[in-house]
Amino acid sequence: MTTRTGFPTPLPKISVTFFPDDVSMLSIGAPLQARPPPPMARLPKISATSSSDSNPPSPAADASSSSAGKIRRLVLTNEGRTKLNPTPDRDFYDFPRFVTHVDDGFISALTDLYRERLKAGSEVLDLMSSWVSHLPPEVTYKWVIGHGLNAQELARNPRLDYFFVKDLNREQELQFASCSFDAVVCAVSVQYLQWPEKVFSEVFRILKPGGVFIVSFSNRLFYEKAISAWRDGSDYSRIQLVVQYFQSVDGFTQPEIIKKLPKQFDNSLLGGIMSSIGASSGTDPFYAVIAYRNFKPVYEEVQ
Ligand SMILES: C[S@@+](CC[C@H](N)C(=O)[O-])C[C@H]1O[C@@H](n2cnc3c(N)ncnc32)[C@H](O)[C@@H]1O
Repeated sequence: MTTRTGFPTPLPKISVTFFPDDVSMLSIGAPLQARPPPPMARLPKISATSSSDSNPPSPAADASSSSAGKIRRLVLTNEGRTKLNPTPDRDFYDFPRFVTHVDDGFISALTDLYRERLKAGSEVLDLMSSWVSHLPPEVTYKWVIGHGLNAQELARNPRLDYFFVKDLNREQELQFASCSFDAVVCAVSVQYLQWPEKVFSEVFRILKPGGVFIVSFSNRLFYEKAISAWRDGSDYSRIQLVVQYFQSVDGFTQPEIIKKLPKQFDNSLLGGIMSSIGASSGTDPFYAVIAYRNFKPVYEEVQ
């Protein structure tokens, strides 16, 4: 496997080199100039294993069971992992899609959730990202690293300080030291993972104790690229699937489920007017499943 790292020297936004089957870690110009780069020792780890990490788990992590992060059981059957379109995912995402995959109501619910759960100054990984991260614009994080399959989309994302391209259906290892992130988010993409148990286990490993993993989704999908267990399910069974992904890894807290269903179609005169001026709340249901590594921190409100 070829692995390249590309920072802290800023690169032009679209100057991207691809290496088949690799991890391409790139820096994005503007944000990097505005802020100091993250410590090199921590990002990225090229061969991240627990024994060689330069940042060993903190005492809080050691306090958890030694099986923490291990996969307890596989959730999906081999059949459940299949896709109608079996061609490499990188081919499917070869050209950039500068669109939003869900409506404004969904995006606003997601941004509110991030506002509530992600503390300013956090180190954030946006897994399966694109040209948008839906993070609240007024909040400053220490840095946001983006991952996805299309470098042009990621290079256009104004929230990212760094990004890398990696096909998680070919390899699930994340090239970061254990306990690197306060938060990992994955928006409207979990349905494309064929080995979610391994990816969730990796997310557990790279989260700091008390770090949060937020997985959000609606009922939209690239049908041919979603796994069969998702495609053939209902909204309810999809929520349960993501809950089980979390539960398949030892050490995540009990998953919380957040649901925001759109109001029934409003065919009143007022409803019609609101819709025609773009003031209706949208029709995409919003679902998020959230769990923490080891424990959910309690933050005191400072008045
Ligand atoms: C529907 S888009 C969502 C993008 C972004 N999170 C958003 O909210 O707009 C699905 C994303 O999943 C990512 N993706 C799909 N298959 C993948 C794979 N096998 N490995 C890594 N990422 C993948 C792609 O990069 C794509 O941008």
